[in-house]
Amino acid sequence: MRILSGIQPSGTLHLGNYFGMMKPSVELQNQGEALYFIANYHSMTSLFDANQRRNNTREVALDFLACGLDPKKALLFRQSDVPEVTELAWILTTITPMGLLERCHSYKDKLARGISFNHGLLAYPVLMAADILIYDSNIVPVGRDQKQHVEVTRDIAIKFNEAYGDTFVIPEPKIHGEAAVVPGLDGQKMSKSYGNAIEIFCEEKALRKKIMGLVMDSRTPQEPKPDAEKNLAIQLLKLLAEPAAAKDYEDRLRAGGLGYGDLKKALFQTCWDYFAPARARRAELVANKDYVEQILKEGAAKARALADQVLHRARRACGLD
Ligand code: ADP
Ligand code: TRP
Repeated sequence: MRILSGIQPSGTLHLGNYFGMMKPSVELQNQGEALYFIANYHSMTSLFDANQRRNNTREVALDFLACGLDPKKALLFRQSDVPEVTELAWILTTITPMGLLERCHSYKDKLARGISFNHGLLAYPVLMAADILIYDSNIVPVGRDQKQHVEVTRDIAIKFNEAYGDTFVIPEPKIHGEAAVVPGLDGQKMSKSYGNAIEIFCEEKALRKKIMGLVMDSRTPQEPKPDAEKNLAIQLLKLLAEPAAAKDYEDRLRAGGLGYGDLKKALFQTCWDYFAPARARRAELVANKDYVEQILKEGAAKARALADQVLHRARRACGLD
């Protein structure tokens, strides 16, 4: 079984990225041949600063390795180190119906927000399809917001196979159940573009400030809270704490007697402790840049060999050989 996922180097890793994509991806490295890449081509649709892209790319590599990606088990590489993927994207573009792309939520959201639009934003899912199909991927672990893009990939692959004969493996999205959508500071989906993110590798003081700043309602500590399961701090604790500890906080909040200040303090401490091992690993890796670069290079060489085979299969199928 081949597992593949990617993440854009467009900002700092937050709890949503971690629980929605990174943690499930790292767990899956034990269940098959895993390939994870940093989607720097995709980031070009919305980030226009070369240095920032270069630096963010390195940061994502550090994040992945710090969060447990084991280079002996999984490949880690830069998307642009396998340029074959852009040729496959063109091949796929020619059989992708416009309507399929126009129906994509992320495209519609961006259009609705009135941002200046480039062709890459519309074509984004086709490049993503190429990323997935070029490695004969079976499973694609992503957060719920990316599920539609994997479904588009399936549609494109099926259409190509119908037009030119059986060429591509049809992949399945894998959405991590409880972390499908991690809420941000305002209760909306956590996202770096909404300014509501809790970054997992930020300084202690900044993390404390963010978590203590969570806005709660004006009910007194003594008042029972029958809707305790909807409380944002409880929802985040359920991801970060041992199940019994999270349940204990939820029960105490429901019964009345637990103040929001104490609840937020517990959330901060749990979050800080949860990422302590990853933080320590990250600090070691920061001091060892050559090692990280070597992993990316080796990952790319192996990924490229796989991509080459599938690209040739696709070229043959459509008469480009
Ligand atoms: P952002 O919305 O912050 O820009 P990305 O779109 O770069 O995040 O997402 C990277 C990965 O993290 C994707 O697989 C995405 O589905 C996942 N992800 C992002 N935000 C969340 C969230 N709030 N809950 C669950 N998964 C998320
Ligand atoms: N679009 C994904 C995101 O923003 C990143 C991505 C690019 C990806 N190519 C992919 C994810 C292929 C999974 C598979 O998060």
